[in-house]
Amino acid sequence: MVANKLRIGMFGYGCVGQGLDDVLNNSKGFKADIVKICVKDKSKERRLDMSNFTFNKNDILNDPSINLVVELIDDADEALNIVTTAMEKGKSVITANKKMIANNHKRLIDLQEKKNVSFLYEASACASIPIIRNLEEYYDNELLFSVRGIFNGSTNYILSQMYDNGLSFDEVLKDAQAKGYVESDPSLDIDGYDAKFKLCIITTHAYGLLLEPEEVFNYGIRNINKFDIQFAKEKGFKIKLVPYVGKVEDNTITSYVLPRFISDDRYLYGVDNEFNGVVAEAAFADKQFFYGKGAGGHATGSAVLSDISASSYGYKYEYKKKEQKGVTGYTRDILLEVYLRYRTESDRKRIGFKKITESFVGKDYKYVIGTVSLARLYALRHELLKMDVFLITTGREDL
Ligand SMILES: NC(=O)c1ccc[n+]([C@@H]2O[C@H](COP(=O)([O-])OP(=O)(O)OC[C@H]3O[C@@H](n4cnc5c(N)ncnc54)[C@H](OP(=O)(O)O)[C@@H]3O)[C@@H](O)[C@H]2O)c1
Repeated sequence: MVANKLRIGMFGYGCVGQGLDDVLNNSKGFKADIVKICVKDKSKERRLDMSNFTFNKNDILNDPSINLVVELIDDADEALNIVTTAMEKGKSVITANKKMIANNHKRLIDLQEKKNVSFLYEASACASIPIIRNLEEYYDNELLFSVRGIFNGSTNYILSQMYDNGLSFDEVLKDAQAKGYVESDPSLDIDGYDAKFKLCIITTHAYGLLLEPEEVFNYGIRNINKFDIQFAKEKGFKIKLVPYVGKVEDNTITSYVLPRFISDDRYLYGVDNEFNGVVAEAAFADKQFFYGKGAGGHATGSAVLSDISASSYGYKYEYKKKEQKGVTGYTRDILLEVYLRYRTESDRKRIGFKKITESFVGKDYKYVIGTVSLARLYALRHELLKMDVFLITTGREDL
């Protein structure tokens, strides 16, 4: 098949935009013509001549010679405007914006169909790891039991630094913010929203189910402290923030984002700092592990380049599993085994343990391990952040 000639309009020239530019300049086999780059800040110095840039999005959106829009800005609302307008005008789109995709997935897929364009977003989930296209194509006919992983490099960096260097959460967070690993408003990362957006995108390609992010329970690492790390170390575990989606019955799945104890015989144990990892478990392929950089201009740019190349051959996600309707149900009616570090008895009672298997009451540190329903945690999701508790799943479901 001969590649279509691409004329690209790019939005954003930050970390990923510049990374993509470098990757494109070094890819001998593939030439793409970037016609214009739209950015926002008129006072910023740029690495390229200013004739390459515009500050007016319509210079790209209204240019009929541009057939591909690569959207790499950091504003999800404006990204949605750009992406929908571009598709309405018959242009294919590549984006890395997981928040925008997860919150508008159905609308964006419908628009792709209606306008017969490509809408690709490999970089939006785990950056350099090609997980979306693998789930879409390779696992198409496989009985996929579950997908789990480490999808957020910022929280993984914080957890690694706490574990390796004995630092407090606040100390590491400040350091991570100073290094630019975490946004100045860290909530998207540390409360597990970023991981959840990626999980929702992955769920669509793994099981064909479009979930609203609001339906999925996410609990991050905001309340973790040194006692939790000490507990994990004593038991030979690391703590990782792990999004999970998996089958409960043939046609029903569950999903959630929770910190999890990981023992040293697990693939995710060795995924530290800014790295990401994904474990897919399927009937015939058994367990497979994907590992790679989950952030960074070049790593993310390489995934965008792969989409640009795929788009030049007319590749589109077909959402075959959505059409096949193998999975139609979603449930939070499952039991999880969790560790709860708590201060007051009333907080412990509110969690609603069904069964307690281990408990410890020390002078300044109390915990229980027991089973709790995911539905109960979801009902408590707003209050949990204000309670002086920390939750970690032991990784045992179906109890
Ligand atoms: N960084 C990563 O490692 C990574 C990994 C995976 C996915 N992503 C996703 O990739 C996207 C870009 O991230 P980034 O890290 O490259 O962000 P960034 O470094 O903050 O750069 C953002 C860019 O967007 C431009 N921009 C913002 N609002 C704009 C607007 N209204 N119109 C035109 N341009 C606008 C900025 O313009 P100025 O230059 O004028 O300020 C800047 O060039 C985000 O969706 C992010 O979630 C990032």
